[in-house]
Amino acid sequence: MVKYSAPGKVFLFGEHAVVYGKRAIACAIDLRTTVEITSSRQGIRIQSAFKDEPDKNPYIRVALKKFQQCAAVDGINISVSSKIPVASGLGSSAAVTIATIAALNDEYQTNLSLDEIAAMGHQTELEVQGAASPTDTFVSTMGGTVIVPDKKKLPPITCGVVVGYTGISKSTSRMVSRVRTLKERYPEIIDGIMDCIGNMSTRGEELVAKNDYVSIGELMNVNQGLLDAIGVSIPELSLQVNAARSCGAYGAKITGAGGGGCMVALCEPDRCKEIATAIGKSCGDSFITKPTAEGVRKE
Ligand code: MEV
Repeated sequence: MVKYSAPGKVFLFGEHAVVYGKRAIACAIDLRTTVEITSSRQGIRIQSAFKDEPDKNPYIRVALKKFQQCAAVDGINISVSSKIPVASGLGSSAAVTIATIAALNDEYQTNLSLDEIAAMGHQTELEVQGAASPTDTFVSTMGGTVIVPDKKKLPPITCGVVVGYTGISKSTSRMVSRVRTLKERYPEIIDGIMDCIGNMSTRGEELVAKNDYVSIGELMNVNQGLLDAIGVSIPELSLQVNAARSCGAYGAKITGAGGGGCMVALCEPDRCKEIATAIGKSCGDSFITKPTAEGVRKE
């Protein structure tokens, strides 16, 4: 029996723009998905607690297919449990993909490196979603704070992190394709917005190194304005973002594809509770989370 877990994530900057090769900064959070592999006499069986997946574990199925290029897989039971809300922008798909590949790697002694696990995870997301940046799979594998496409680790985030969850599930591929359509119709406008978001991550890298959360928050607010401009915010997310800011967060924005899902606010550590309450009162749900340095790990 082998058991691996991998973390979810929040984006400080760069969702959507990163799909076009611009920079993004993401941070792993202490919500994890766990995958356990045991031997089975009935071929390959998958038991998943993910309730919202209409398509029967697409990420696990495709990850298995990719892994079959390294070893012949048969006679296993894969069982998944998760603390990460599904289709919420917190990286649940990447976490289940990475934990599955890492568990298979151990079970079949295939000696894949962390970089190879992250790359196979990215290929899996690409195949399932049609379009995916390496952000979610890379941060889930490595943990900590990362900048992509550089694939570099940055110093840890040490301020408070509060997540607002609208309870509205969204499809990443649908949101990515909506933004792509807008970009194709108005390239002379949307390309500039993508460049601008990428520049925020470049500036953000310096600010993370200095732990300058006031400036990071200010730029997160600008990033939110641009996410709104490309049509991925919804009224529920705006309510949560405004509630967090009114309650004194350094900054607040959508995390992930938008269209539902979650927002993230950074704040002074002792303000977390107040801000979580304000977000929860505005709409949906909220919780306090912590950045984690730990990526995929054996349980
Ligand atoms: C999804 O978590 C974030 C997007 O930028 C898509 C991606 O990076 O693959 C919208």
